[in-house]
Parts: sequence; C-alpha cells; structure tokens
Amino acid sequence: MKDILTMPVMVELIRTITNMYDHGWDERNGGNVSVMLDEAVLKEYLDTDRVLRTIPTGFAAPALNGKYFLVTGTGKYFKNVQYAPENNLGIVRLIQDGTVAELLWGYSDGGKFTSEFPAHMMSHVARLQVDPENRVIMHCHPANLLAMTYVHDLDEVAFTRTLWQMCTECIVVFPDGVNVLPWMLCGTNEIGEATAEKMKTARLVVWAQHGIYGAGKDLDETFGLIETAEKGAEIYMKIAHLPLVNTITDDEMHQLEAHFGVKARPGYLA
Ligand code: 13P
Ligand code: ZN
Repeated sequence: MKDILTMPVMVELIRTITNMYDHGWDERNGGNVSVMLDEAVLKEYLDTDRVLRTIPTGFAAPALNGKYFLVTGTGKYFKNVQYAPENNLGIVRLIQDGTVAELLWGYSDGGKFTSEFPAHMMSHVARLQVDPENRVIMHCHPANLLAMTYVHDLDEVAFTRTLWQMCTECIVVFPDGVNVLPWMLCGTNEIGEATAEKMKTARLVVWAQHGIYGAGKDLDETFGLIETAEKGAEIYMKIAHLPLVNTITDDEMHQLEAHFGVKARPGYLA
C-alpha cells in the first residue's frame, strides 16, 4: 500500500487549500472543498474495506452511491491543513443512497465533513449530469465577490455582465456566467438544493453576503474559475464609485467568443 499523503490528488488538494488561504479567501474555518476520487487509484493507497466509522449525511443522493470523496472537515482552518492533513481532511464513501458516509481515512480527532456537505454532494450530482468529467466542488469567501453582493444588483444577467466587463478574459473563462442565490441560511439541505439547482446552468454560484461555489474537472480549473471571477469583482470594487468612461462592449464580447471559440450564455449579450 502506498502512502496516502503521496496520492497526487491529496498533494494537489493540500497545495490548493494552502493557496486559497494565502489568497485570503478562507479566514478561520471559512470555505470547504470536495473532490470525487477514482476508486482504482484510491485502492493503491487505502484499504477501502476498512471502515473507521459511519456518519449519517442527513440527505439522499442515490446518484453518488458507492462514490468516494476527499473532503475538508467542518470547523477546520485552511491554514492548518498542510501541517495536519489527517486531522483536517477526510475520505468518505457514500452508501445507502448517500444517506450514510463511511469514513475511510482522516477526521482523526473525531470530526466530520464540512457543514456544507449537502451543497457539495448535491452540486456534484447536478454538475455530473451536465459534465461527466466534473470532480471538484469548491466553496470560499473571496472579499471582492462578497463585497459586490452588497452594492450590485443580484440579478444574474446583470451580475454576470458586470463581471464580464471587468476583465477581457472573464467571458472566456466563464461563458456560462455566474448564478446568484439571495442570502440563505448556510449549512442546510435547503441551500444545498438551491445551489445544486443553480449548478445546472453555471459552474459558479454566488451566495449573496457569504461567498461563492465553483465546480470543475480538477482543482486547478476550479481554483482558476473562482480566481478569475474574484479578479473581475476586484476591478468592479475599484471602479464602481468612479465615473465609467470605457467598457468592453457587447460587440467586443462577440469578437472574444469567435476568437476563443466560446459561446456566451444565450440571451446575455445584445
Ligand atoms: P465548515 O467549517 O463546516 O466547512 O464551514 C465553513 C463555511 O464556509 C460555511 O459556509
Ligand atoms: Zn462559507
């Protein structure tokens, strides 16, 4: 059996979480990440017949039955993950239609997966229906996106168009735009269901006055998606109080679509 801490996705997750913390996106225990694992690869590193304990999930997700996830722990500080991965992370297998998680590794102080596990698992289900390659759901609290939800219209077309106008590359990186949920109580099945519904049409879902969710095929892609949206929001927060003299026009957006071979969300451009 190989050392689980050398499993490539484990190494990548720890690096990514450290980077998220260094970007200021994850104060205290803010943020959570889940990665769906390949069973065959995992078996090289872990005896998957050895269940440490079972944890009820509080929801059903039949589509994820038998699937394995590497997930951040609830209440755990991102800044500490690199120093104590086995305490701050866990590997679980969903059984009984996703109503129960079997802990196979981690949460070594008796902890459990993130309080946002419903939003993560329901979002995995939603994204896998759109993109069978999807593996990652990432949640964090980037300051500028959060700030923007206090001063910008939360209408999804308006919010998306503003971000697209803030940096040339935004429409190229997230042509599907950004969906937005109003403030809701976090850590509940309700916000999980609402997030998953929004994930059916976009890989980014903003939680007003809270943070953002991103989805992607790997950690780099998902990190980059949030990083690009956050850059757009940063520019917006720098200029929103100033007279706007120039912008990226819809005609220029169409040029970007053609040049980069992307298609903007239908109806979002003139
Ligand atoms: P957890 O510590 O349970 O992951 O919660 C952090 C968070 O960001 C809640 O939205
Ligand atoms: Zn949060």
